Amino acid sequence: TGAFTYDPGFTSTASCESKITYIDGDQGVLLHRGYPIDQLAEKSSFMEVAYLLMRGELPNPDDYDEFVRTITRHTMIHEQLAMFYRGFRRDAHPMAIMCGVVGALSAFYHDSTDINDPVQRRIASHRLIAKMPTIAAMAYKYSVGQPFLYPDNSLSYTGNFLRMTFGVPAEAYEVDPVIEAAMDKIFILHADHEQNASTSTVRLAGSSGANPFACIAAGIACLWGPAHGGANEAALEMLREIGTPDKIPEYIKRAKDKDDPFRLMGFGHRVYKNYDPRAKVMQKTANEVLDKLGVDDPIFDVARELEQIALNDDYFVEKKLYPNVDFYSGVILSAIGFPTSMFTVLFALARTVGWVAQWNEMIEDPAQKIGRPRQLYTGATARDYVEITNR
Ligand code: CMC
Repeated sequence: TGAFTYDPGFTSTASCESKITYIDGDQGVLLHRGYPIDQLAEKSSFMEVAYLLMRGELPNPDDYDEFVRTITRHTMIHEQLAMFYRGFRRDAHPMAIMCGVVGALSAFYHDSTDINDPVQRRIASHRLIAKMPTIAAMAYKYSVGQPFLYPDNSLSYTGNFLRMTFGVPAEAYEVDPVIEAAMDKIFILHADHEQNASTSTVRLAGSSGANPFACIAAGIACLWGPAHGGANEAALEMLREIGTPDKIPEYIKRAKDKDDPFRLMGFGHRVYKNYDPRAKVMQKTANEVLDKLGVDDPIFDVARELEQIALNDDYFVEKKLYPNVDFYSGVILSAIGFPTSMFTVLFALARTVGWVAQWNEMIEDPAQKIGRPRQLYTGATARDYVEITNR
């Protein structure tokens, strides 16, 4: 062993200094550049939050317009990248496609892979944020066998994404303002969350000087897991499996049973030991969307009742397990028409903003070094090689 602090899961290790996001897990507070998440979700837009996270301040009207114009200019992807999709099986999980296609961007944009040039870093960042909706929508289109749609830059960032996902060339697509607003809010709620597993992955990958497209692909891979971004997909599947409120106690019992690997998906958080402030906004948005769309999904009743039962159960109270951002997001996304396999892709699309902001902050930090954790070695002590015939 060496003189290292052993901290599995990094529960008490700060890996960096950051000015982007603040979380007080005991109080259930989340601030982006000082602004509370509920105010941003209610009053701001995803593009404005993207600007805020990347540049540190809210934009004035001119800066905002210029930023949106810049992002809009980069929404198309190289035609040859579209061919990349055809190499995947139709039934490929869209997150598998995302890992591959986003990583492949580095082969198309050599000019913006010079990480030491701030101008190139900014262009790469804009490209990533702008192309993500196009890449995500194409992953969906490929899975359902419909033609890819080119971006329509007269639409908003979110409206354009909805059209590329749900529109078809044969018909005009009207963006529903209620869905557009809800989707924009969901993107805001997922935009950044300080040093979570995928963001730490992006920073660690970037610390070696790897290009930003490869770093974001690494973040996508990490986000995919069910303990992280994959939880929204897992949470909705769980709610569907429970099906009716009378089955809830059975699942609560399983979640508490230490011999059963089952966990209540969308519940619990490494940092929040109180209600996740994002889950509050998400629940309200779910109400609004389901009301407006006239959707009467029994899954929502199951979710609400499950939440109430868990919040009053000793096990969940003692362990301070509350609903997290993923608990209600699936209910909304499913009402909008997304298949569960796309949920984590939407998370990745939104989190790209945070990843890019954090990656830039890391590169600009004079204290930045290659991330290189040590270990406590617990293996064999030195011993001599034994010839195979003598073993
Ligand atoms: N259901 C049942 N028991 C749970 C749950 C749950 N969802 N979450 C934690 N526990 C228990 C766990 O068994 C442990 O009990 P004990 O101390 O007796 O061993 C205790 O609570 C602490 O859990 P932990 O796994 O040590 O805590 P962690 O900080 O390592 O894990 C977590 C945090 C989010 C991975 C975990 O709560 C979990 O697996 N939740 C379900 C998956 C989920 O919803 N993930 C999304 C997180 S928010 C969005 C995102 O990050 O992408």
